[in-house]
Amino acid sequence: MRTHHCNELRESHTGETVTLAGWVNSARDHGGVIFIDLRDREGLVQCVFRPEENAEAAKLSHTLREEDVVRVTGKVARRLEGSENEKLPTGAIEIVASDLVIINKADVLPFQLDKELSNEDLRMKHRYLDLRRPRMARNIRLRSTITSAARRHLDDAGFFEIETPILSNPTPEGARDFLVPSRLNPGRFYALPQAPQQYKQLLMVAGIERYYQIARCFRDEDLRADRQPEFTQIDIEGSFVTQDDVLGTVEGLLGAMFKAGLGIDIPVTFPRITYREAMDTYGSDKPDTRYGMHITDLAGVFAATEFKIFRSTLDGGGVVRAINAKGFAGITTGQMNRLNEIAIQAGLPVKSLAFVKYENGEYKSPLWKFFTDAEKEALAATLDIAEGDIVFFVAGPRDSVCDILGRVRTECANMMELTKDSDAFNFLWVVDFPLLAQDDETGRWVAVHHPFTRPHADDVGKLMDGDYADVRAEAYDVVLNGYELGGGSIRIHEKDLQAKMFDVLGINPEEQAEQFGHLLDAFRFGAPPHGGVALGLDRIAMLVAGEDSIREVIAFPKNNKGADLMAHSPCKIDFKQLREAYIQSTYKEAKAPEPSASGHTG
Ligand code: AMO
Repeated sequence: MRTHHCNELRESHTGETVTLAGWVNSARDHGGVIFIDLRDREGLVQCVFRPEENAEAAKLSHTLREEDVVRVTGKVARRLEGSENEKLPTGAIEIVASDLVIINKADVLPFQLDKELSNEDLRMKHRYLDLRRPRMARNIRLRSTITSAARRHLDDAGFFEIETPILSNPTPEGARDFLVPSRLNPGRFYALPQAPQQYKQLLMVAGIERYYQIARCFRDEDLRADRQPEFTQIDIEGSFVTQDDVLGTVEGLLGAMFKAGLGIDIPVTFPRITYREAMDTYGSDKPDTRYGMHITDLAGVFAATEFKIFRSTLDGGGVVRAINAKGFAGITTGQMNRLNEIAIQAGLPVKSLAFVKYENGEYKSPLWKFFTDAEKEALAATLDIAEGDIVFFVAGPRDSVCDILGRVRTECANMMELTKDSDAFNFLWVVDFPLLAQDDETGRWVAVHHPFTRPHADDVGKLMDGDYADVRAEAYDVVLNGYELGGGSIRIHEKDLQAKMFDVLGINPEEQAEQFGHLLDAFRFGAPPHGGVALGLDRIAMLVAGEDSIREVIAFPKNNKGADLMAHSPCKIDFKQLREAYIQSTYKEAKAPEPSASGHTG
């Protein structure tokens, strides 16, 4: 239907007759002469309709409205001296139109495409319009660019792209499963995969050696800005690999994606820190290392303290730690309340965070009077306290203190806008995760990554001896600017070790046979050592695009209630269809309240 796209024409095309098709981005009437900016996927070009070229087309052009779909034929001409638009790549020329076909008229739009819109529901309801906006069009294109770069990189590195079932069984990745009833197997259900974890391991047993998949995953969990119920992983697995091999593959892969997306070279290798260091220094296993504000241990400073709370904490085996939010002494009451709220939610046992401010050469703190001069001096030196700083303290059990201070650190950084104008990409590996964690409520041991993760070779003895808390895993996460981009591990490939792991997790032999029999069986027939990783493609695309929600890089995302407001999904299913799948709903919809006699419905 067209000879060129709208962003293709330059001065060198002057005199050529071209046909273009696209949307009317804007239409202006300049004394009877109509100018339109014609837009297609690639960009904009100005078209001008003058009666002397074609009176009929010129007349028709008066009816053009934004977002009408048209086809324009005309001659490329240099714009008049002084009327060039330097902002447009096509800004030196215009199309002097000789023909116009209105292919499809557009109604008045529910929102303007050239303005940011805060009403996300409205954007989602008309997502096909939202995606026409330049920022969104760029994001979708960027996602495609980095996805194909990932494919190219992995293809070149000898990985096979293999699809695994979507209709499968529940997978223990830590979220709830989405279930699908089976009509042909009454009373039975498929579960949508939370990840292709077991299939990719079975592909290793099958001798594939290097696998990848741009895999859709489904998790029924609480949603956030970086979580969707269905999302995409770049899922990778290799045989005969060490942890270093997997880390190197991911570094190369992310390098290729960032080069393709942003034209930048990221570091060839990323720094590595252990989980323990990450928790001690940042209070998070996905720290943002673009700013410091490290957690500092104050055991030395308060070794001889008489201050009751610190004394009893230290004597009881707990820790006293602090962060220095440099230059944040001017914190507002509202911000302080917010920090306290966050700390309490994270488990702070008192109503407010202990703090010390240093303002106008004076220390201000409810605690100050409890410290000796030596402690004050040591504190100032250890935390490098200077004019305008505020220090937050937490005392208690180590893990909880780190967690609370980690959250306070992140929130302080947000409030201080420490990363607002940053274009840094701070990649980081967090390694040596614990294999197991104890569930607070049930006391049961759960897998920190998933049950297929290999215990660290040096810690297998501890696993056998029941010293579960101290067993490290051969597991790793890749982190970027405070986001977990991906995670993986070297796997267990021995039947007995896998059975032992299931045992520890409280999965009895019958359940093991029923849920994981295929994997345990496969491990009997020559399973190679293997390991891998999965990267969240949505999160990578979000960070490449400079967005703060993955909804901005997914064509048709769900809202925070898991709903698609455009397609009205999830939807009601009629009785007949449910019956075919042997499903009977027990859900009773709340009845609309009866109108009362006075007409008030309450
Ligand atoms: P994990 O559960 O850590 O590992 O997931 C890997 C990566 O997937 C992304 N991710 C999500 N992205 C958007 N929305 C979600 N709901 C969501 N959940 C996870 C994150 C995360 O780092 N099978 C293992 C991988 C392995 O061991 O190889 C797994 O799925 O970026």
